[in-house]
Amino acid sequence: MLSTSFAGIELENPTVLAAGILGTSAAILKRVADSGAGAVTIKSIGPKKREGHSNPTVLFFDSYLMNAVGLPTPGYRNMEREWEELKEINVPVIASIYASSIEEFVEVAQYVASRKPDAIELNISCPNTKAHGMLFGKDPSIAHDVVSQVKEVTNNIPIFAKLTPNTDRVIEVARACEEAGADAIVAFNTWGPGMYIDINTRRPVLHYRTGGVSGPAVKPLVVKGIYELYEHVSLPILGVGGITNGNDAIEMIMAGASAIGIGSAVYYRGIDVFKRICDEMQGWMLTHDYKSIKELVGVAHE
Ligand SMILES: Cc1cc2nc3c(=O)[nH]c(=O)nc-3n(C[C@H](O)[C@H](O)[C@H](O)COP(=O)(O)O)c2cc1C
Repeated sequence: MLSTSFAGIELENPTVLAAGILGTSAAILKRVADSGAGAVTIKSIGPKKREGHSNPTVLFFDSYLMNAVGLPTPGYRNMEREWEELKEINVPVIASIYASSIEEFVEVAQYVASRKPDAIELNISCPNTKAHGMLFGKDPSIAHDVVSQVKEVTNNIPIFAKLTPNTDRVIEVARACEEAGADAIVAFNTWGPGMYIDINTRRPVLHYRTGGVSGPAVKPLVVKGIYELYEHVSLPILGVGGITNGNDAIEMIMAGASAIGIGSAVYYRGIDVFKRICDEMQGWMLTHDYKSIKELVGVAHE
């Protein structure tokens, strides 16, 4: 009932571990796969080793999470052991990559493609570093060039463009990615950035001061964003942001997502959140007489 396909990739269920939540370690990603995720995304890999920001990097509240992890990465050349171990994961593996120039995106993508992940996700949307990220996803012509040049060096591996919601040009950027040959849109990275000030110390708590916002509070914004994307692009959409339970997942699919990413909910409900969300979705579908995920995609538009 939950099996589906996304951008040509067969999934046992539509839940995908979102990038960055559980790092690059193959052992942890394998645990997530064994706990019921339909696919897993590796934390964004960059061109060179990078430490990321100092602690505290993640703040956790009832209704949202705020993070400024700052894209720590071993660098794509220093992951040989991980790539070997990642082969043992029995669900599709999506490799997220970031870079600070189009040339670097091409360099990282070419190498990562040689390790044969099931898809490559281009993080053109990180709000947490000065040099990397959002710029690419805010300008349609730069987004176009990143995608089209990466497509040239990645053979037939599906390329996903992960968008930032923090621009009024989301639709233009998505269309540019589509024209450039992207195989799917991932919507969205974190929102903001935001800031949390401890009123007792009178200082911002995150070491980087600001951080991207995710978790339950962003869900209505993501649902609306996906609803609009569905009307303007024909690529499959991986809906990411604020999904905590099966009802949230169904809502996102009704808005137009063909699969759903789960990030902050791992903090809220633990590593077996994937199986729990699948059970909840299945319960809803049985009650409402839906036999497949595909029947539900975009029904809110009918
Ligand atoms: C701690 C943390 C680290 C993240 N790291 C990345 C990353 O490396 N690359 C990326 O594309 N997105 C990253 N994200 C964004 C998530 O993949 C996701 O897009 C966002 O959190 C919204 O989904 P959620 O509300 O389910 O968490 C990170 C999010 C969090 C909370």
